[in-house]
Amino acid sequence: MKPSSYIHSLSRIADTDGADPMAPCPDEVEAVIAALENNAEFMRIVRENPAPVRGIGITKYLEYRLYVPDCFIPVHLLGIDALPPQRIFDIGTGFGYFPYICESYDHEVLCMDLDTVPLYNASVAALGLDRRTHRIERFQPLPDIGRFDLITAFSVCFNRHNYPDVWGRDEWWYFLRNLVNDHLTPHGRIFMRLNPEVSDGAYGVEGLKDFFLSLDARITGMNVDFPDLSRIREIIRQEKSIASPTA
Ligand SMILES: C[S@@+](CC[C@H](N)C(=O)[O-])C[C@H]1O[C@@H](n2cnc3c(N)ncnc32)[C@H](O)[C@@H]1O
Repeated sequence: MKPSSYIHSLSRIADTDGADPMAPCPDEVEAVIAALENNAEFMRIVRENPAPVRGIGITKYLEYRLYVPDCFIPVHLLGIDALPPQRIFDIGTGFGYFPYICESYDHEVLCMDLDTVPLYNASVAALGLDRRTHRIERFQPLPDIGRFDLITAFSVCFNRHNYPDVWGRDEWWYFLRNLVNDHLTPHGRIFMRLNPEVSDGAYGVEGLKDFFLSLDARITGMNVDFPDLSRIREIIRQEKSIASPTA
């Protein structure tokens, strides 16, 4: 089966903004798969871990022929394959295929994650990714990591996904303001794919989707894309002028 054919079997494509699921070019996909298969440490991890059950648990990512094509979907959606070298910050990296593909296009990626999952630790190391260990907490700024052209977060869990205290508007505003103020370049972009909450199969907090829309997010399914941050910057300016009117 061609890699692009695998994509049709993945439910995650339902959230990809109408992207053509055939878009990933098999040559690009095959080049990444070939690089993985030439990576002795990566293949050792694949060999020595329990055989994955399709789509279940963390070991599912060992099926690289299934998940690498999946990660090409946002690569194409965001034009990562066509952009000049960018600084990308990937939050909650997990196994690491997405940043690995980004690096294959000469982008520089900083990853951030917990270090609590040994399989993620091993794969990220085998893929040679630069990962900073940090736990994102509500109303806490990120550490000093510099500025990025693109900030991504896929299958977001740092928002207390599926906990009763899942983030609402205030937590998200604090987080987005921190990203825009301190971690994005002037024309930067934020792209997140939230996990549907069990409480409602969607955003989990009433009004949260409308809040993102009010900040000029483009929303498709659980994708929350901020291609233009002018509205957020404008609100930040207004907040500052209210806090110190004479400044
Ligand atoms: C569902 S996995 C998604 C992994 C990857 N982005 C993907 O789409 O395959 C969620 C990731 O978020 C990380 N995570 C969960 N809570 C976090 C927190 N508070 N701060 C930072 N990372 C967190 C987990 O360790 C895990 O790697």
